[in-house]
Amino acid sequence: MEKFDVVIIGAGASGLFCATNAAYRGRKVLILDHANKAGKKILMSGGGRCNFTNMDASPKHFLCNNPHFCISALKRYTPSDFVELVDRHALDYVEKTPGQLFCKDSAKDLLSILLTELEWSGADLRLNTSVKSIDWQEQGAKLTINQNNTQSEIQCESLVIATGGLSIPSMGATGFGYEIAKQVGHSVYPTRASLVPITAQPDRKAQLAELSGVACDIEATAGGAVFKEPMLFTHRGVSGPAILQITNFWQPGEPLKIHIAPELTLESLVKTREEQPKKTVENYLANELPKRLVELMGSELTWLSQKFAQVSNEQLESLVNYLSNFDVAPNGTEGYRTAEVTLGGVDTNEVSSKTFESQKQKGLYFIGEVLDVTGWLGGYNFQWAWSSGFAAAQFV
Ligand code: FDA
Repeated sequence: MEKFDVVIIGAGASGLFCATNAAYRGRKVLILDHANKAGKKILMSGGGRCNFTNMDASPKHFLCNNPHFCISALKRYTPSDFVELVDRHALDYVEKTPGQLFCKDSAKDLLSILLTELEWSGADLRLNTSVKSIDWQEQGAKLTINQNNTQSEIQCESLVIATGGLSIPSMGATGFGYEIAKQVGHSVYPTRASLVPITAQPDRKAQLAELSGVACDIEATAGGAVFKEPMLFTHRGVSGPAILQITNFWQPGEPLKIHIAPELTLESLVKTREEQPKKTVENYLANELPKRLVELMGSELTWLSQKFAQVSNEQLESLVNYLSNFDVAPNGTEGYRTAEVTLGGVDTNEVSSKTFESQKQKGLYFIGEVLDVTGWLGGYNFQWAWSSGFAAAQFV
C-alpha cells in the first residue's frame, strides 16, 4: 500500500497551494482530483483572466457565521505574499479597479505558475481519481481510490479536504467535502449559490429582456449591505458587479432595493426644471441613463415626454421613487449553474483557525470554499484559497 504524509482531495486553488507548501516543508504529498484537469475554475475565473487577489483583502470582506475565523490565516499569508510569488514568475498583471489584480493576458499564466511550483515542490498530482471510501485509523486514514477504473488503497497521516463549493457542477463541483464533514460529526451550514445573477419574475423578465446588454451604475441595498457598482440587464433578469455582490446578502423573498440613478435626487431635478424648463424630462434622462432604459421608463411613466416646465413636484417625486425603487421583480437566482461561489459550508467553530484541523477528527483538515467562509466579489475568494491553503500546509 502506498503511504503519504498528506493526501489532499481537490486540485483547485486551495488544494494546489496547500500541496505545494506542504511538500516544500518536506512532507510527502499526494493531491488528487476526479476532474481531468487541475484548477478548472481558475481558468474560467475573472472572464478568463482570473482576479487572483485583492490588495485590500481584510476579514470584513468575508461572510462567515464565526466572523473571527479568517483573521489569522489572512494575516499569515497576505495579498502581498501572493504578489511576491507571481512577481518571481514574472506574471504580467493589471489592477482593474483599485486593489483588484487580474492576469494581463490569461488565467492560464497563473495556473501554469501554480503547477510549476507544484512540480518543483515534488508533490504528486493524480487526475481522473476519485475517493471511494475513507477509513479512519489510529494514525490518519486509509483511502480506497479509483484512478481510470483501477482501484487501489493508500494511507496518509493528514487528509485535507479542498473540494470547494457547489458552483458550476459542469466543472467538477460536488458536495463531497460536506459529506465527509458530516460523516465525522461536523455541522454544515445550509449552502446557497452566491455571487450570482438574479432572475426576474416572468412578466417583468420579458420587459427587462428588451434591455439585455444595457449597463448602468446603480446602488443595490439588501440585508444591511449597499453596493454602488454597475448593473447589467440580461435575458433572464439582472447581473453585473452590483448584483453579484448583493447576492451575498440577499436571498429570494427578502427585500432588495435597486436605485438605478443614485445621483438623481428631487433637489437636482427641481434645479434642472429651473435651469432647463423647455427640455423634455426624457431628453434630460437620456443624457444621464442608457437610452433603451429611458425608453422603458417612458412607457411606464408616460408624462416623461413633457417639458420640465409642465411637470409638477409630485411627478418629480414619483420619478425619484421610480428610480430609487426600480422594479426588477426578483424571482430567484440563476443558481449553481452560473454562481461564482457557495455560501455556507463546514462550520468553522469546529475547525482550528490556526491549523485548519477538524476538532471532530484528528488528521482531517478543511481549506478553501468548502468551509463556511465566502468572500465578496473582487479577488477575495482566491485570496482565501491561498491564505487557508498556506496556513494548513504548515501543520499537515
Ligand atoms: P475549487 O473549486 O477551486 O477546487 C475544488 C476542486 O475539487 C476542483 O478541482 C474539483 O474538481 C475537485 N473536486 C470536487 N469534488 C471532488 C471529488 N468528489 N473528488 C475529487 N475531487 C473533487 N474568485 C476570485 O477571487 N476571483 C475571481 O475572478 C473569481 N472568478 C470566478 C468565476 C467563476 C465563473 C467561478 C465559478 C468562480 C470564481 N471565483 C473567483 C471563485 C473561486 O474560483 C473559488 O472561490 C475558488 O476556486 C475556491 O477554491 P477551492 O480550492 O476551495 O475550490
